[in-house]
Amino acid sequence: MVDRCVCFDKTFTEMKKVIDKHNITTLDELKKYFIFGENCRICLPYVELVLSSGKTEFEPINFNYDNL
Ligand code: FES
Repeated sequence: MVDRCVCFDKTFTEMKKVIDKHNITTLDELKKYFIFGENCRICLPYVELVLSSGKTEFEPINFNYDNL
């Protein structure tokens, strides 16, 4: 399962707590609170899913990363 930004060791559960506490709706807003997604960027589509679905664990998904 995918449950964190591995590069910065930040779990989606930790992110979700901040998302809920501050009513965050975008990646840019969330990045004001801690660093994630600034290295390989593989986690970013998953963090988008955390924002849109509220889930914190995902099966690996074959995203198209060309646009990141
Ligand atoms: S897993 Fe998030 S930047 Fe690499």
